[in-house]
Amino acid sequence: MRARLMREARKVMKNAFAPFSSFKVGAAILTDKGDIFVGCNVENSSYGLTNCAERTAIFSAVAAKGPRLKIVAVAVANAQGVPCSPCGACRQVIYEFGPDAVVFYQGQNGQAENLITELLPEGFRLK
Ligand code: THU
Repeated sequence: MRARLMREARKVMKNAFAPFSSFKVGAAILTDKGDIFVGCNVENSSYGLTNCAERTAIFSAVAAKGPRLKIVAVAVANAQGVPCSPCGACRQVIYEFGPDAVVFYQGQNGQAENLITELLPEGFRLK
C-alpha cells in the first residue's frame, strides 16, 4: 500500500502549478474506506495563497466524500528528490482527519515513515 500511495503521489505531482518555487509536490491519502485521493501543490502570484499538495488531496477527499473523512495514511513525493515532510499547516490538517495516520515522505536519510502524532505532538483539537 505504501508503494501504491507513493506511486499515486509521484503521478499527480506532475500536475502541480509551481511556477514560483519550481518545487512540484504530489500527495496521496488513503481513507479508512480504502479510497485513495490525490493532490498537488497549487501556487499563486500572491504567494501566501499557495495550497500544498497534502491539503489539496485532503480537501478533494472531503469534497468527494463528505466531512466524516478518516485518513489512514498519507504519502508525499517531490520532483527534486530532496527531503520533504509535510509543513506545519498540513500536519495540523492531516491530524484533524487522521489522528492515527501514518505519513510516508522523503526524510533526511531517505524514505521515512512516521505517525502524524510524532510529526505533530499535541495537535490542536476543538472536538
Ligand atoms: N509544498 C507542498 O506542497 N508540500 C510540502 O510538504 C512542502 C511544500 C509546496 C508549497 C510550495 O508550492 C512549494 O512546495 C515550495 O514551498
